[in-house]
Amino acid sequence: MVKVEALIRPQKLDDVKTALSEIGVRGMTVSEVRGAGRQRGYTQHYRGAEYTVNLIQKIKIEIVVNAAEAERVAGVIVEAARTGEVGDGKIFLIPVAEAIRIRTGEEGDTVL
Ligand SMILES: Nc1ncnc2c1ncn2[C@@H]1O[C@H](COP(=O)(O)OP(=O)(O)OP(=O)(O)O)[C@@H](O)[C@H]1O
Ligand SMILES: [Mg+2]
Repeated sequence: MVKVEALIRPQKLDDVKTALSEIGVRGMTVSEVRGAGRQRGYTQHYRGAEYTVNLIQKIKIEIVVNAAEAERVAGVIVEAARTGEVGDGKIFLIPVAEAIRIRTGEEGDTVL
């Protein structure tokens, strides 16, 4: 199992959700987060030096899927979330050791 963790622009959430549902993704966790990337949260370049890191509102989407599906899920998010401008976001693929459905106690990828 792999967790696909995507940091995206808030205004792209609806497009990403629609694209994910079209490929059958159901379970997901969505959080409002703040973050910075290479530009350290600058929305534009200012004259002179500025050392503060600004944290910009992003949406974090976490989806745990079978390892074989992770690349496709990530690809769909890339397509749906891209504007081509800096700050489009990032996706991390993270190995997941185990999953447990609390109600039944089942374990493994049948839980997904
Ligand atoms: N190395 C990182 N570790 C954890 N989170 C990150 C990292 N890089 C980016 N993020 C998260 O992703 C969000 C979007 O990052 P962003 O798209 O600006 O990345 P970037 O590397 O600067 O790419 P770009 O040049 O396209 O802006 C950040 O606000 C932050 O939440
Ligand atoms: Mg950036």
